[in-house]
Amino acid sequence: MRETPDFNAISLEALRRRRGTKWTRYPPDVLPAWVADMDFDMAEPIRAGLAGMMEANDLGYAPKLPASGLPEAFAAFAARRFPGWEVAPERMIAIADIVQGIHIAIEAYTRPGDGVCTLTPVYPPFLQTVAETGRRLDFCTMVRGEGRYEIDFDALRAAIDDRTRLLLLCTPHNPLGRVFERDELEALAELAIERDLVVVADEIHADIVYPGFRHIPFASLGPEVEARTVTMTSATKSFNIAGLRCAVVIFGSDRLAERFNAWPERIRGAVSSFGMEATRIAWTECDEWLDALLAHLEGNRDFLHAFVAERLPGMRMVLPAATYLGWLDCREYGLEPDPYRWFLDRARVGFNDGRDFGDGGEGHVRINFATSRAILTQVLERMEEALQ
Ligand SMILES: Cc1ncc(COP(=O)(O)O)c(C=O)c1O
Repeated sequence: MRETPDFNAISLEALRRRRGTKWTRYPPDVLPAWVADMDFDMAEPIRAGLAGMMEANDLGYAPKLPASGLPEAFAAFAARRFPGWEVAPERMIAIADIVQGIHIAIEAYTRPGDGVCTLTPVYPPFLQTVAETGRRLDFCTMVRGEGRYEIDFDALRAAIDDRTRLLLLCTPHNPLGRVFERDELEALAELAIERDLVVVADEIHADIVYPGFRHIPFASLGPEVEARTVTMTSATKSFNIAGLRCAVVIFGSDRLAERFNAWPERIRGAVSSFGMEATRIAWTECDEWLDALLAHLEGNRDFLHAFVAERLPGMRMVLPAATYLGWLDCREYGLEPDPYRWFLDRARVGFNDGRDFGDGGEGHVRINFATSRAILTQVLERMEEALQ
């Protein structure tokens, strides 16, 4: 049994020495709670594995996928964490980054001017990629219901027409923290079959799901659904290794694989050897660390939710079922010119601007609560003070 990691044992001083984007975007008096990087130390097995590579001067080109152990590691991880989903290692490729994979999928499965459908507000690169590929954005805005955001299926049907070719799903959903239930996923799948859509399921947040909820991989809904689904995921969010650049794509059919892989390997991008090895270790040796992380994040999530309810009375927040991201509706406060700018200027806290997430994002900010309780408390107290 390894020692339980202490996710509160991080110092602001050490974080400020980090060279990554989270801690270098803003001046030092700002507390950054934006991009989906966590403030925690990496899991010990990953640190030891990477240190071992350094020690061995093992900095050459990355191994080919079969020699990396990655496909088997993911298949076994998925079998443990998402029972009912059988992943075929031979239907998997590694890519450097999911957004690049989404870009290639749009190019591979649709033509310029075709529609790509997604549920907004959503992870901003979804929207940017649709625009950059010259496709039409067929969006459907999620609506706040009782304790969760809901898919408006009538609006979704209305958003799709004959030129819509692809459904781009974020499941679990960033930034709304939804873990879609089986009946919702089945309704989406039915629609995809009826309208003959390819489904790209970005399941990068699948590991960060809180008690009471269960992530159901879209491709696990049945063979007919799987055959039109491309799943993309990585260990980068849950194990805090986004800088290492490694993700996997799992094709539900040979036809989908062929069309995607027709894009030259150079364009699909080369994965780093560090990314591959760290990801393999994450998926084989770090279940305990992940469970401890989830317990810490759940505590932060509940603390944030209670703080908002009790001390930020004009703010609305739905308790996220997944992710370490909170979606804060600040509209009642009428903060000018917008809540992102207002909190940055007056509270010196750096969030993500809700407007970047597309329709439904106006008047909102996204907070990242994957930090120590002390830092999260400071962020919230700064907000409270600025609002007084
Ligand atoms: C839904 C979603 N997809 C993809 C990514 C990033 O993946 P990558 O760095 O592999 O492009 C993120 C990062 O926050 C995300 O939230």
